[in-house]
Amino acid sequence: MRIPPAKIHIPEEDRTQILAAIDACLASGQLTLGKHGAAFEEAFARTAGTTHAIATSSGTSALEIIFRAIGVAGGEVIVPTNTFFATPAAVEHAGGVVRFAECDPATFSIDVDHVRSLLGPKTRAVVVVHIGGVITPRIAELQGICARAGVPLVEDAAHAHGSTLGGKPAGSFGIAAAFSFYPTKVITAGEGGMIATSDDRIDEQARVYRDQGKAGFTSNFHTLLGNNWRLSEPHAIIGGSQLARLPEFIAARQRVAAVYDRLLAGTGVEPLRIPEGSTCNYYKYIAMPPAGVDRSALKKTLRERYDVGLSGEVYEAPCHLQPVFGPQAAGSLPVAEELCSRHICLPVSAVMPDDDAAYVVESLVKALAEQRVATEA
Ligand SMILES: Cc1ncc(COP(=O)(O)O)c(C=O)c1O
Repeated sequence: MRIPPAKIHIPEEDRTQILAAIDACLASGQLTLGKHGAAFEEAFARTAGTTHAIATSSGTSALEIIFRAIGVAGGEVIVPTNTFFATPAAVEHAGGVVRFAECDPATFSIDVDHVRSLLGPKTRAVVVVHIGGVITPRIAELQGICARAGVPLVEDAAHAHGSTLGGKPAGSFGIAAAFSFYPTKVITAGEGGMIATSDDRIDEQARVYRDQGKAGFTSNFHTLLGNNWRLSEPHAIIGGSQLARLPEFIAARQRVAAVYDRLLAGTGVEPLRIPEGSTCNYYKYIAMPPAGVDRSALKKTLRERYDVGLSGEVYEAPCHLQPVFGPQAAGSLPVAEELCSRHICLPVSAVMPDDDAAYVVESLVKALAEQRVATEA
């Protein structure tokens, strides 16, 4: 494909170093919970602006550990409906019940006013998801609401490595944050996740939960209902290498986004505006085509006629419409339903040339015109 939806980038020099480090690791026999995991955690805590970071097997397990450590079982957790399945699923796996909240069209994040109306005596936590790497500027308001209600705010920062608001990094706004290193994320470890927190109790419990609930690495004394949620040393080596590239990758993505911003002006396609005072890592470049556009037909045209793959939406359908959450679903959440059904995500990667971004916009404009002509005919 001329322009793929995403491109995973592990530079050649990094691959050489990663292979050498993995070789030494294999020779040493220490393949999990060793020095590479510890170094990755230390470096990640600095990126997230927290005192602790705990490496896990995935972003999903990072979320479940946080919800277990908070103790959501038997209570409710307010989760934005516009998120990945793993956010509400982790709540339910930890024994909580999800209350879905509406979407704020300005940021694709949680609707703070709806959170206010959902809070109640059973609420055990509120989750904010930094969709596409955008941190909502209403997060201070959300922090205030949570503090007054005595309820912790959790960040699902799976999209937001290195994004900031008011100079503060994603991961430092809530009691704890979950990050993902799934291959399509801004940085990857192959698979893996990270909990960032400045809460000593969550740090301590998370380390126990991720290792089968054992009180210590060498003990067989199980104090919590944990699981095998460890990150292996080879994964930590890849993750550590990618983390060192984060500023460079974000700068490259921001350059692509600047080309899109410039070339989309006047085309009728409206990019999601990055809030004042914030920086976005551009995990996704979100844009809204004109009303009435058939998104799947547009994607098909771009793929088949122009060899351009649009990236996956965030999200194609809101979670309250997923059958698995049926009984808890909040009925109609029309703003999220509308945004999810209409928006598109343009391809972006750390190695995308400006010319490719220009070709995407040119192709998009042509494909939209073709769809208009076809509709009018
Ligand atoms: C918003 C969100 N939450 C959680 C996850 C789960 O992360 P992982 O795939 O590492 O389990 C993802 C990743 O796909 C995500 O996008």
